[in-house]
Amino acid sequence: MAARRRKRLFAWTLTEGVVAIDTPQPVRVDPGALTPMQALEHVEGSREAALFLLKDFHPFLGGGQVLENVRLIRKLRDLARRLKRWEKTVIFLSPLLRLPPELEREVTVLDWSLPTMADLEEALERVIRSARVRGDLRLNLDEATRERILKAAQGLTISEAERVFARSVVMTRDLDVEVIIAEKQQIIRKSGILEYLEPQERMEYVGGLSELKDWLNKRRLAFTEEARRFGLPEPRGVLLLGVPGGGKSLIAKATASLWQLPLLRLDMGRVFDQMVGSSEENIRRALHLAERVSPAILWMDELEKGLAGTASSHLSDAGTAARVFSSFLVWLQEKTAPVFVVATSNDISLLPPEILRKGRFDEIFFVDLPDQEERQEIFAIHLARRRRDPARFDLVRLAQESEGFSGAEIEQVVISALYDAFEGGRELTEKDLLRNIAHTVPLSQVMRERVTALRNWAYTHARMASGRRPVPTGVGPSSLY
Ligand SMILES: Nc1ncnc2c1ncn2[C@@H]1O[C@H](COP(=O)(O)OP(=O)(O)OP(=O)(O)O)[C@@H](O)[C@H]1O
Ligand SMILES: [Mg+2]
Repeated sequence: MAARRRKRLFAWTLTEGVVAIDTPQPVRVDPGALTPMQALEHVEGSREAALFLLKDFHPFLGGGQVLENVRLIRKLRDLARRLKRWEKTVIFLSPLLRLPPELEREVTVLDWSLPTMADLEEALERVIRSARVRGDLRLNLDEATRERILKAAQGLTISEAERVFARSVVMTRDLDVEVIIAEKQQIIRKSGILEYLEPQERMEYVGGLSELKDWLNKRRLAFTEEARRFGLPEPRGVLLLGVPGGGKSLIAKATASLWQLPLLRLDMGRVFDQMVGSSEENIRRALHLAERVSPAILWMDELEKGLAGTASSHLSDAGTAARVFSSFLVWLQEKTAPVFVVATSNDISLLPPEILRKGRFDEIFFVDLPDQEERQEIFAIHLARRRRDPARFDLVRLAQESEGFSGAEIEQVVISALYDAFEGGRELTEKDLLRNIAHTVPLSQVMRERVTALRNWAYTHARMASGRRPVPTGVGPSSLY
């Protein structure tokens, strides 16, 4: 850029002061200017049309609390005006966006985008060439493998990609997709906010919720080239609201297996945890990271967690929460990377109303308590998952007796019954199950009012995940309400 605009190019670092870097060899022009203030004074005093790269300057712009920082910010504001007159430009290189509000108007933010497939391919070529020279590489990559490797490397920076390619060659004398994916997981783990989960749950393990399953199934190939060519927009996300233990988290995990995409769990509690960093920076970083490893599913479990008014309200104030949610919503609407959001919540009263407005998510689904048929299915699933033949049990009866139970409660009944049988030294019987049903007081009874309120809201605002027609409370399929 400097060459094109016929300007000089200087870099400043804390360790070397100001160095000219447009010369064949770097030349130290002001090695004494080691403090940020001296750097700015140098820029101010310089009489050349130039670009000044300030490296690692962001810690000093961190906040206005420290007197030193206040001075720097003041200096920068004064300088900004003068820079315009002289043909000088200051460029901050920073891994994160942390601008004090006083400078927001003076600074243009350029997000450095990740390498394209072509960039990655070049990196791959370089590694292959040097491996060949050393005789390290065994095989020639066929077209399909090459594409899989590049796809797996998507989201890495050039130097990260080169490093994993090289590591794979050293470890396996080959280019191995698994190694590259493992490296990506590593990067995510380091961030501390996102968690990379191995897909383990499958859609077959989810009972009922047929409408939601159909909806997800239909979008299974939504992120493929083919879908784009067909003219389909990329889906943005779904919000799953529902009673506790209804299977929301379960279906979020199962979606990752169904779509064969990595599952990234974003812990809202941690976003608001001041120990991790400022909440706004946390969410920004997490979303950015999700884009880096996309295509992926971003699972925001218990969306309401960490919001003011919840048990963990000491972690955040209403203002911060509102800013975090609004930056999330903006991202949700404007994102271009293929990241599909699955958000879950069991308490709408805590969510900011904007998030529930139609058009934010592709759809809002309400995960209600299972009905008779769904309960049968859930009993069958959990019996089968614990190696019992469901045909040996009267599922209709079990479902009838467990009216008002959630999926989680049905699972608990099966587990407790198994314990009983095991302790008694006999095989599981229907009696064990019925006894445990009788001993369970379902949450829907304990929290009847909350569940009713949630249902009433959902019947008019959300789509039923089960495909049942919404029924006004009081005349519902369940005598409980
Ligand atoms: N529809 C279902 N089919 C099969 N199993 C279910 C279903 N719903 C719940 N379960 C069982 O209960 C467990 C807990 O459910 P899950 O954590 O998904 O509920 P949730 O809706 O996320 O609840 P919460 O609102 O408390 O987070 C699941 O892992 C699963 O074993
Ligand atoms: Mg859950």
